[in-house]
Amino acid sequence: DAGDHESFMRKEMLEQPAAAERVLRGRLDERFGTAHLGGLEMDPRETRAVRRVKVLGCGSAYYVGQMGASLIEELARIPADAEAASEFRYRDPVIEPDTLYVAVSQSGETVDTLLAVQEIQRKGGRVIGLVNVVGSAIARECGAGIYLHAGPEVAVASTKALTNMFLGFSLLALQLGRVRDLSVADGRRLIAGLQALPAAVEEVLAQEDALAAVAQRLAEAESLFFVGRVRGFPVAREGAQKFKEISYRHAEAYQTSELKHGPLALISEEVPTVAVVPDDELTERNVAALHEIAARKGPLVVVTHPGVDLGGLDVVRIDVPHLERELDPILLTIPLQLLAYHAAKHLGHDIDKPRNLAKSVTVE
Ligand code: BG6
Repeated sequence: DAGDHESFMRKEMLEQPAAAERVLRGRLDERFGTAHLGGLEMDPRETRAVRRVKVLGCGSAYYVGQMGASLIEELARIPADAEAASEFRYRDPVIEPDTLYVAVSQSGETVDTLLAVQEIQRKGGRVIGLVNVVGSAIARECGAGIYLHAGPEVAVASTKALTNMFLGFSLLALQLGRVRDLSVADGRRLIAGLQALPAAVEEVLAQEDALAAVAQRLAEAESLFFVGRVRGFPVAREGAQKFKEISYRHAEAYQTSELKHGPLALISEEVPTVAVVPDDELTERNVAALHEIAARKGPLVVVTHPGVDLGGLDVVRIDVPHLERELDPILLTIPLQLLAYHAAKHLGHDIDKPRNLAKSVTVE
């Protein structure tokens, strides 16, 4: 059972710092600024031959897959993207021999992801698994990959497994990067960031009371937007997913840049926006978009970094620690878990078992 915790979701959120340490343990090489991933079953020549990376997963695993694909593209300079595994095999995809396919799954039993793996293998592609449950169907089918060591996850809404998925991608990106052009200095910089991450997650979790107060206000809205750009967009998608699946409020994720091409028409006093605004090359553009929302009286909750100047806007501000820019997505995701959790709790919902959803979907 959830022990002293009121729910498994809360217990699992609070376990994230310890889970993060487990996935990193023994895999970081400070001397060479790289990662060691024994389970990949790829020698350096094969690692260098990868020309493209395609990530497949469902639900939260798909959104974290988008974060992971960006990380790989950024650090290893290999074109990478993510696709919903539930759609993949229905479009008769071309499978390329020099593409590395990555199947992401907490349970390792999601049938849509498993069937995508089988489609790749049937057509001669190489696929590795980023899987939490040891010996699960997807892990066995892939035969190679990275175990996530998050420990058992019970709540339908994934938290610690998702964080470890992101860290699994960080390790993979580091290794793929270091056999290419990523410098040893950059490798070491990322390793230092990864080592500091568990404590930084702890710092975000410590803001729970303040986040609970914000969540109670958001829970009153029938409909909300979650927005972000580039690195921040999969964070917004994951935030909206969590919010809708446990609070049952309509939460829609959008690229901040696309607001003016449509959804701005819906912004009003009744429709709050949760905006992801990291301290990066897009901060000023993001802040300009917040002004557009504020001008239409849209209430704003901004998840950002200390020192970001929000231009005097009247917003609810949530700061998360800033480690290395490549690692921003995961720390920006943590407050969104707490917002969803406390909104659902405020509304009196069954947090661990939301209506109509299963922890792992093993039928098509
Ligand atoms: C969904 C769950 O149906 O499956 C989500 O409700 C989860 O929470 C998704 O993210 C994928 O599951 P898994 O086990 O493949 O990571």
